[in-house]
Amino acid sequence: MKDNTYLRLIKYPGAKNVLTPDIKNVFERSGMKLFVDVFGGSGTVSLNIGAHRIIYNEIDPDLSNLFRHVQEHPERMAQMLRKLISEGEFPPLEKIKGNEKDSNTIERAFNTLIRFTTSFGGMGDTYNTREKSSMGYARKTLEQFSSINRVVKGWKIENLDFREIFKKYDSNSTFFYLDPPYSDRKWYNYNFIREDYMDLRDLMFNSTGKYLMNVNREDEFIAEIFGEPQFTKEYENKNQDVSIGYMPPRVKSFYTNLRNLKLKNGD
Ligand SMILES: C[S@@+](CC[C@H](N)C(=O)[O-])C[C@H]1O[C@@H](n2cnc3c(N)ncnc32)[C@H](O)[C@@H]1O
Repeated sequence: MKDNTYLRLIKYPGAKNVLTPDIKNVFERSGMKLFVDVFGGSGTVSLNIGAHRIIYNEIDPDLSNLFRHVQEHPERMAQMLRKLISEGEFPPLEKIKGNEKDSNTIERAFNTLIRFTTSFGGMGDTYNTREKSSMGYARKTLEQFSSINRVVKGWKIENLDFREIFKKYDSNSTFFYLDPPYSDRKWYNYNFIREDYMDLRDLMFNSTGKYLMNVNREDEFIAEIFGEPQFTKEYENKNQDVSIGYMPPRVKSFYTNLRNLKLKNGD
């Protein structure tokens, strides 16, 4: 995937930028027609998967609301972003917050976009109104906005718990892409407890469709619940920080019901 065609809308903890080419490869080999991004998050995978039919699901209403506005009101969203860039500074978040009780306004969507444009590895909690690299990120988002809208226009956007998604979309032409929250980090507004992994396992193992799940190899109790993965793969750690020293590659474990599937290191 070349850089100029790779789409991204927000910075989000656990976004699968590095894994997306492998997920695309597996989806294409599966022969399935419907791609269901069950834990959609930043939408990075759905934006770049190239499937004809995509369900983007995310339980956090701020994220599903953001993508609904990108889908339905792209001109207005782009205009708000253009204005912000021309002012050269991110406004205080309270100014663009919108009504707290109303989670589906355009102000709320724009607030989410800005929070996750300026954040550094967190849930929008490291907001800095003048950060230069965030302004650069916002400019690139504006450049890509019509391409992002073209892709998102074709999605069905859901805001459901994963259990509902399996019930609604399981079929013999469905591919479930599963990137659940991590067991040992409480990064999201919605995290997982042990029972959630057990429910996910039961749904996966009994599904009619195909699935691919990735987790961190070192995640607590994953192997105990899901058994041994079909394969593992190392990914270069792109968040190198000279003050900490060299960060070793990350190892991901993959679970799938596609037969004879393996991705090797270096593929
Ligand atoms: C590891 S992140 C997914 C990242 C995503 N693949 C990306 O590339 O940005 C896991 C996501 O699952 C969502 N989530 C948590 N509990 C959920 C649930 N019960 N049903 C659906 N989504 C859930 C979280 O809000 C979070 O965005």
